[in-house]
Amino acid sequence: MSTPRISNNANELLVTDIGTLAVVPPGPLPGRRMRDVTMLRDAALAIEDGRIAWFGPAADAPDFKLQHRLSAGGGCVIPGLIDPHTHIPFIGDRSGEFVRRVGGESYLSIMESGGGIRVTTAAVRRASEQQLVDANLPRLRRMLALGVTTCECKSGYGLDPEHELKQLRVIRTLDGLQPIDLVPTYLGAHALPAEFEGRADEFIDTIASEELLSLIAREKLARFCDVFCDRGAFDVDQSRRVLRRAAKAGLTPKLHADELAQIGATRLAGEVRAISADHLELIDDAGIEVLKNAGTIAVVLPGTSFYLGIEHCDARRLIEAGLPVALSTDCNPGSSMIESLPLIMNIACCQLRLLPAEVLAACTANAAAAIGLHENTGAIAKGFDADLTILDAATLESWFYTPGRPRVRSVIKCGRIVYGGGLSP
Ligand code: NIG
Ligand code: FE
Repeated sequence: MSTPRISNNANELLVTDIGTLAVVPPGPLPGRRMRDVTMLRDAALAIEDGRIAWFGPAADAPDFKLQHRLSAGGGCVIPGLIDPHTHIPFIGDRSGEFVRRVGGESYLSIMESGGGIRVTTAAVRRASEQQLVDANLPRLRRMLALGVTTCECKSGYGLDPEHELKQLRVIRTLDGLQPIDLVPTYLGAHALPAEFEGRADEFIDTIASEELLSLIAREKLARFCDVFCDRGAFDVDQSRRVLRRAAKAGLTPKLHADELAQIGATRLAGEVRAISADHLELIDDAGIEVLKNAGTIAVVLPGTSFYLGIEHCDARRLIEAGLPVALSTDCNPGSSMIESLPLIMNIACCQLRLLPAEVLAACTANAAAAIGLHENTGAIAKGFDADLTILDAATLESWFYTPGRPRVRSVIKCGRIVYGGGLSP
């Protein structure tokens, strides 16, 4: 499919003919406040210096002398989508595991039989930086065409200092090659590599050495440090050691928690004041309270439960309990080979019973909060980055009503049209 690429280099723009502007307030939006999205009909939005300068009813628009205009053609305009949890960049194919799972084997038993993360680790270790860039750039371009303007990316398939650093450098390279803003996370403690079998504590000392963590922080190769704290991965004590050291080095903690087994991971997320706790399929009441008290964002990944055929996280329960919930693809080659945030949004709506406004808040304002960017992006607010996705549906409801139908017309990143078209003089 070819899309006209027209860019307004001046990063100032007047967006006209907006059927509905979905005005998402800045995050984090806890609990029922996720519904506080105002639908403004027949709107316009002005961008200056890449930021939102004005928005309101088109009839009230001041006489902007902006050089460039873009008609939304009556479509709905939403904040650019934010994917706050992906395992990009990766390489290799695990479709055999996918079919084994469909046939009844579990993710854990495939992992225990030598499949899983170690398979992708071997492929990533073998690949050059250029090969990793080439394998992932098209993926990011496809995500852009689905309306994504910001994306968190994790290492975690190198599992030794050399290859973890390689993955982090690839994220930096990819960030410079395409319009989506990439926010890097160090996930050295993702799995135990074969050469450390039976020596998990030694592995932790290698992957979370003071030297390595401070290098990553100093070179700004990552902002966050994540750990896979679960049965078959790392226990609470090991995860605590990694995250405490990382925080000391200047990396903010995140956690894969309560996905495969309930081992107390969410309580650790609260204890280390993680910015987000992710997965949460098996979260308990105590875990919910802990996250609330710590101000941690709950990142729910319904693509993973969909793909693995396990119970979804009860996101409705988290929202009713007053937590700010974000949604993400968890895009990875094992448990969620899903790049499409709109697909995740549809699963959240149809199967987790989240309302369209809640889902939108989860993929914008709250997703921004899960990666510490909520003061600049993820909302329609004056002074915020002009990151916008224009739909060919007139309302938010009519977009959610048609799952699977590609409906992104244009994407604007910091005031520049980076996907779709076009400009009207
Ligand atoms: O988020 N849970 C841990 N890691 C990934 C799976 C990674 C893989 O299987 O390659 C996840 O589900
Ligand atoms: Fe993950």
